[in-house]
Amino acid sequence: MTNQSRAQTLLPTPENLQLAADALRSGDVVAMPTETVYGLAGHAFRPEALAKIFSVKERPTFDPLILHVGPLARGIEQLRRLDLVDTKALSEKAKMLTEILIEKFWPGPLTLVLPKSSQVPDLATSGLTTVALRMPRHPIAQALIAYCQAPLAAPSANRFGRISPTTAAHVQAELGDRIGLIVDGGACTVGIESTIVSVSESGELTVLRPGGLAREEIERATGVPIDLFIPGSKISAPGMLTQHYSPRKPLRMLPDKLFKLDDFSALASGKMVGLLLLSGKLELAQAHCNAHYAGKVIIEILSPSGDLSEAAQNLFAKMRALDESAAEVIWAEPCENAAGLGYAIQDRLKRASAIT
Ligand code: TXA
Ligand code: MG
Repeated sequence: MTNQSRAQTLLPTPENLQLAADALRSGDVVAMPTETVYGLAGHAFRPEALAKIFSVKERPTFDPLILHVGPLARGIEQLRRLDLVDTKALSEKAKMLTEILIEKFWPGPLTLVLPKSSQVPDLATSGLTTVALRMPRHPIAQALIAYCQAPLAAPSANRFGRISPTTAAHVQAELGDRIGLIVDGGACTVGIESTIVSVSESGELTVLRPGGLAREEIERATGVPIDLFIPGSKISAPGMLTQHYSPRKPLRMLPDKLFKLDDFSALASGKMVGLLLLSGKLELAQAHCNAHYAGKVIIEILSPSGDLSEAAQNLFAKMRALDESAAEVIWAEPCENAAGLGYAIQDRLKRASAIT
């Protein structure tokens, strides 16, 4: 955590929202809550705001931004009229599927990657021919978009590659020395980023990033199978880096079925260990740890009942808590259940534990 925090944290009163919107309209950046994670917002049509987002996050400019839109963008024709999407590039099937996805899942944790209109700044899309769009469900994000009367570009409000923030305090710790304003909307309810779906011109749907909306739900709504992104395929997914969401401490994935836990001493090798566990069914492990490594293990449980939505909601906050604890190394229980949000949780754990 930095000692030079200086960002002002604002409660979401109408006056403060106006203040934040004025800052955004003048080309500054502001951290805002969304239902997924906190975003570092900037006016999508102001290149100086976009440039500031990249520099504050230390994000490489090859990694494009998501544009957050308001209710006026709720339809394919509306996206064309707002000069965000080049609908001419889309087949009838692609348009139909996009319409269904918008109708069913916006506002919410779904980002759609669609052919971009020439009006969208290249800096926002890193020069790609597509643009990522999402309508957030969080009332504060919605209010800021409405006050600005413009889409807001917003990556997660963390330093590049680090753990995404799910409270205003996390943003303060990540970027407090670099930005002026954080709007405090409490803890994010989804807790992991949006699911990103690319809609190809011919109408193929591909999940580029698993996230807060389960793939099964998208398949159910559209009636079509959804591909998962394969690195090296012809779709561009510049942000899908092997290493991401990383704590400062080393995070390792526990070997499957470790919880006989006799092997644990070998893993721990005398170090203070943080254990990130998915559910309370590992209370046994807890008891074992306490018995054998008293004072040497700090345990965080993502959901005592094993509920995946609750686990997702807590994931980044608990990972961050262990990172800031006395633990020297963090061991995470893999999420073997790939159904629902399990796939996205495992994705985050894998990237957080990747060594590059
Ligand atoms: O839930 C979320 O999506 C949060 C909140 C703040 O809305 N935002 C977020 O943004 O996670 P960020 O920048 O941390 O991640 C956006 C991802 C990046 O991996 C980026 O590469 C990808 O979206 N992306 C953006 N535009 C794209 C495009 N045109 N094609 C493919 N991927 C794109
Ligand atoms: Mg991010």
